[in-house]
Amino acid sequence: MGTAVEFNQQLLVNTLKAEREHSYLPFSLHIFDSLTSTNQTAWNLLKQGAKPGCVVIATQQTAGKGQWGRQWLSPSGGLYLSVAITPKLEATESYQLTLATAWGIAAQLQKCDVRVGIKWPNDLVLDGRKLGGILTETKIHKGQITQAVIGVGINWANPVPQTGINLELWQGSQNFRPIPSLEILASTVLLGIESGLECLTIEGINILLSRYVELLTNMGDEVYVNNLLGTVVGVTPQGNLRLKMAVYNTQELITPEISVEPGTISLGYCKTSV
Ligand code: BTN
Repeated sequence: MGTAVEFNQQLLVNTLKAEREHSYLPFSLHIFDSLTSTNQTAWNLLKQGAKPGCVVIATQQTAGKGQWGRQWLSPSGGLYLSVAITPKLEATESYQLTLATAWGIAAQLQKCDVRVGIKWPNDLVLDGRKLGGILTETKIHKGQITQAVIGVGINWANPVPQTGINLELWQGSQNFRPIPSLEILASTVLLGIESGLECLTIEGINILLSRYVELLTNMGDEVYVNNLLGTVVGVTPQGNLRLKMAVYNTQELITPEISVEPGTISLGYCKTSV
């Protein structure tokens, strides 16, 4: 699992205090050395009465969860963080939490000159490689989301596969270190989550989507769906990918728009050179 990492909670508290102009989501911090999954612990804390804004951070996870039921390898050196919230959204809108979080974190990292983009729907990418991912889980009652846990994994100093990148190595290769520590990265991510959720709630999904697609690295990509070629033109409020298809109707080319749900097509990495 690699060398144990110490997490300096006071440094995170001080950085959050210094960087926050106002507090939209009152964070309460719960820091652990090792957990099965920070998402799981956030759910347990909610069951025990924790308030929205409850944050769980672990320096490693033994059963980290990824999208589509995959495992999220979580050795020490990475950032593993979850935030519990009680959003006012319908169940059909649950992807908005992931879109808001992805945009908020990418925009916050860009403010620090780390050129992070978004790969639809929930990946954070840097130089065409996966820097991190988001897993949002929800509890639904009568078609409404009653509680949600937003989990974020970011490669800080942990080993990564070929399609991945870690921020420590990237900063070394750039000869500049805008994010000097795991604690500053945690603070940047929390500020990003807060600003994404604030944008979604206060400004609404259409404004959020216009910002999200500005950072979407897949815009204009060509992909095949059922052997037909389509071009990525945006994302719907439900989080589906919008595609303009090229279809021949007898001799005439028509370009109907379709949308595909997350998890139904895969977009691949490394379109840009490193
Ligand atoms: C993905 O598959 O891209 C999403 C990965 C999300 C991983 C994070 S790590 C912190 C939180 N706890 C988990 O078990 N998963 C999420």
